Amino acid sequence: MIKETEQYVKTFHQGDSSGHDYSHIERVRRMALKIGRTEGADLLVVEMAALLHDTVDDKLTDEVTAWSKLENFFDKVGLEEDKRDAIKHILKYMSFKGGENAGKLESLEGKVVQDADRLDAIGAIGIARTFMYAGKFGDIMYDSQIPPRDLAVANYREKTHAINHFYEKLFKLKDLMNTETGRQFAEERHQFMATFIEQFKKEWSE
Ligand code: ADP
Ligand code: NI
Repeated sequence: MIKETEQYVKTFHQGDSSGHDYSHIERVRRMALKIGRTEGADLLVVEMAALLHDTVDDKLTDEVTAWSKLENFFDKVGLEEDKRDAIKHILKYMSFKGGENAGKLESLEGKVVQDADRLDAIGAIGIARTFMYAGKFGDIMYDSQIPPRDLAVANYREKTHAINHFYEKLFKLKDLMNTETGRQFAEERHQFMATFIEQFKKEWSE
């Protein structure tokens, strides 16, 4: 079942240049299993949810078709009802969505996968992904005249610049980690991003 899921997900993410290519999925999966082992989570649910987590994201796809494709896939591989529900709960609520999903993710497995996804959004890789995303969706690198927005009210598709994303979301993630293991990894990555932004702004005004 895991092998078939890998195949399904590889096809879905093929050709992505927004920082959501299959290597993102592989990193999230590996980190989720690492955290999940320490936390004593159901590792089948963790691994399947990590693999599938971006296949229903409205940033990348049409959500309605995505959910029905996912159901068909679950039918095909014969995934049992309780595992299916557990995975769907995670996929539905793990996205940041400007904070609108805060508190809705209830399962340990969901918290584990969410931490792994958030860890891939920060640190050196998080920085790289942010600029890939900005390039892909036509945002510029930086404009000191455009301040960070409150993502709870802003439309995330409106034009912004890549540096704003650090303030709007990435710098907040360290304090939103669910697990102790996640928090430990987040610390170093957060510091690295802070140093990067400081240096970026220094060079900008030199
Ligand atoms: P989430 O579901 O929490 O949004 P994803 O795994 O789908 O998490 O990926 C989010 C990543 O996409 C961010 O960490 C960042 O790298 C990139 N991203 C999303 N929105 C923006 C944006 N407005 N500007 C730059 N990067 C963005
Ligand atoms: Ni992701």
